[in-house]
Amino acid sequence: MVKPIVAPSILASDFANLGCSCHKVINAGADWLHIDVMDGHFVPNITLGQPIVASLRKAVPRVDDVAATKPKAFFDCHMMVESPEKWVADFVKCGADQFTFHYEATKDPLALVKLIKSHNIRAACAIKPGTPVDVLYELGPHLDMALVMTVEPGFGGQKFMIEMMPKVEALRAKFPNMDIQVDGGLGKDTIPHAAKAGANVIVAGTSVFTAADPADVISFMKGQVAE
Ligand code: DX5
Ligand code: ZN
Repeated sequence: MVKPIVAPSILASDFANLGCSCHKVINAGADWLHIDVMDGHFVPNITLGQPIVASLRKAVPRVDDVAATKPKAFFDCHMMVESPEKWVADFVKCGADQFTFHYEATKDPLALVKLIKSHNIRAACAIKPGTPVDVLYELGPHLDMALVMTVEPGFGGQKFMIEMMPKVEALRAKFPNMDIQVDGGLGKDTIPHAAKAGANVIVAGTSVFTAADPADVISFMKGQVAE
């Protein structure tokens, strides 16, 4: 059985108060922090890079840091970049716990999975809305997680694409124990579709960071996945 995981996307946070905003959502029940790295080439937007991730790592220790007293979280780095191979070592160094590359951005996905795992972090592969799910069938057994994009990557605050749900269903049928992530437009209104299709790792930017009560949104989403 896979477990429900909610990963707020820091893209929707207040970057001037990033550490505090992250502590707030972790204290509200978030398991992971979803870190959207965009290079202005793979997607038409630029977001953040290593210095911010390294600073955030100081404010948010690793989950296995038993001595740490600050709120801890798993760093889920969603790399919307060309040539993702180039950035694995850097992101491991600045604190990534998982490196998610885009299938569309690399020539040799299996070699990249092996490279990521050689650094002792988790490896995940994402597909854009236009990419068929069967490209992940061979790679699946090597992955810690698959990400089915539910918006066109590049921006937060877009509308959830319900038509991506058959991809999630197909992956869940093939890989009953794999973490399957959905990303884009997830909130209280759309989570029932994603949960029913079989997604268990829920990225939510706008719906969590702008909520009056983030704990309520996070627990609602976890509850839907667990059902
Ligand atoms: C889009 C990013 C998403 C985005 C999610 O390219 O990968 O993670 O920030 O934001 P919301 O939840 O606001 O759609
Ligand atoms: Zn993302």
